[in-house]
Amino acid sequence: MNSHLEIKLTADGSNTIYLHELNENYHSFHGAIQEANHVFIKNGLYQFASASEISIFELGFGTGLNALLTNLWAEINKVKIQYTSIEAFPVPIDICKKMDYPSKLDHSSSEVYSKLLDAEWGQLVSLSKNFFIHKIKGAIQEWSNNQNFDLIYFDAFGPRAQPEMWELPILEKMFNALNDNGILVTYCAQGQFRRNLKSLGFKVESLPGPPGKREMTIAIKN
Ligand SMILES: C[S@@+](CC[C@H](N)C(=O)[O-])C[C@H]1O[C@@H](n2cnc3c(N)ncnc32)[C@H](O)[C@@H]1O
Repeated sequence: MNSHLEIKLTADGSNTIYLHELNENYHSFHGAIQEANHVFIKNGLYQFASASEISIFELGFGTGLNALLTNLWAEINKVKIQYTSIEAFPVPIDICKKMDYPSKLDHSSSEVYSKLLDAEWGQLVSLSKNFFIHKIKGAIQEWSNNQNFDLIYFDAFGPRAQPEMWELPILEKMFNALNDNGILVTYCAQGQFRRNLKSLGFKVESLPGPPGKREMTIAIKN
């Protein structure tokens, strides 16, 4: 799918990728790092700030930005994180490096970002003291979980570009992959998506979105 990728600057000074085939960006045009921090870290990860260990599943590894931010958070907060991320169409490493995320974050994150990108697919790799990653190369449609998770970063392309990602079969997989009281977070606030979540038994809440977006969604399995 990702044969024609173009790096674009977003409003917070961080880069994203524009995918011509789907006419879709990997992150918000209003700010890639800002969106990732707001949706996945502040409104997802912080829900588990008092835990000593967390397991996270990410749909869509993409550039590895969410994984990098999560790694930085794990080391600052000294919370052990096991991070599993699936990606059907890996972004070439040279393009990820051109995103230059470490220069916009903590410069010391440069080494960990390289390790993150170089981590072998299909293996559990220790990236730093508190962060372990398992990158899965494959489509979510083919994936079956042999482990349950506390938190899901649901970071598929939007419903206009990839409607099937926001429909019942994939969402049911996500429901089944969560522990009780587990949480799914996403930037998307589409009505039909939220109704689908509710029909599966999720408790659905809306939170203010990142700049440029009124709302985002958090769904709790309880
Ligand atoms: C919005 S981007 C994710 C951005 C990413 N989380 C980041 O931090 O850069 C959506 C990602 O989902 C991936 N994707 C698309 N279809 C998929 C599928 N069927 N299974 C797994 N990943 C898929 C895309 O290739 C893309 O990398």
